[in-house]
Amino acid sequence: MNTGSRPLIRVQEITKAYPRRGGEIVVLEDFSLEVAAGEFLAIMAPSGSGKSTLLNLIGGVDRATRGEVWVGDAPLHRLSEAALTRWRAEHVGFVFQLYHLLPILTVLKNVELPLIGSGIGLGRGERRRKVAAALTLAGLDERFWGFKPMELSGGQQQRVGIARALVTDPDLLLCDEPTGDLDQAAGDAIMALLQDLNRRYAKTIVLVTHDPHAAEFAARTVHLDKHLPLAAASA
Ligand SMILES: Nc1ncnc2c1ncn2[C@@H]1O[C@H](COP(=O)(O)OP(=O)(O)OP(=O)(O)O)[C@@H](O)[C@H]1O
Ligand SMILES: [Mg+2]
Repeated sequence: MNTGSRPLIRVQEITKAYPRRGGEIVVLEDFSLEVAAGEFLAIMAPSGSGKSTLLNLIGGVDRATRGEVWVGDAPLHRLSEAALTRWRAEHVGFVFQLYHLLPILTVLKNVELPLIGSGIGLGRGERRRKVAAALTLAGLDERFWGFKPMELSGGQQQRVGIARALVTDPDLLLCDEPTGDLDQAAGDAIMALLQDLNRRYAKTIVLVTHDPHAAEFAARTVHLDKHLPLAAASA
């Protein structure tokens, strides 16, 4: 991704509205944001106000109604579905609140999935090497690599989720309430891990959360209330 001196992420005057019977619901309105390469940014807003919607727009899984989203040189608002899928596979890792692991697969197989689905075309040995490296980066002890997700604690499952996000070596990690289902100690350990990935490996991280304690681990926090009509309504 060639970013030069421009920000890695440029969200420009986007509006996101969903059609509803008898009108529409506006979730984001004229919202702009820039994120530098190598930043760790927390975006805070109340529950139900549009945080996941925003993260999905930055990650190219959803499209804005109006406005532009650039990540590096990629104009996400203009890419075809096929081009977006390829772009995501190469550049973005997603981390979710409820981990989204496949229960019938082992830890190793869960982390390997993005390498199989992406058309990257690696041999088995090379895939295994990348999976092991990602799990090690995520701090999950080798003893657990043959386990199924249900045999792990929540914090361990989230480490698997982070390893799966890292396995393609993306430059951007998008984290949607990654500690939302964990107690404070496990949550702090996950946030410390994300902080370490940002500081040591220069991963750009955008985290959305409604938890001010989790946001403290980020280097910068943006409060979205005035750009999120639903948040303003609930404030
Ligand atoms: N696919 C959709 N179709 C219609 N409306 C939607 C859709 N996705 C989201 N919305 C609307 O957007 C609002 C914001 O949703 P979003 O999931 O982005 O909020 P959030 O801030 O992530 O909430 P939470 O903190 O509970 O995860 C929802 O209340 C809903 O009204
Ligand atoms: Mg959400």
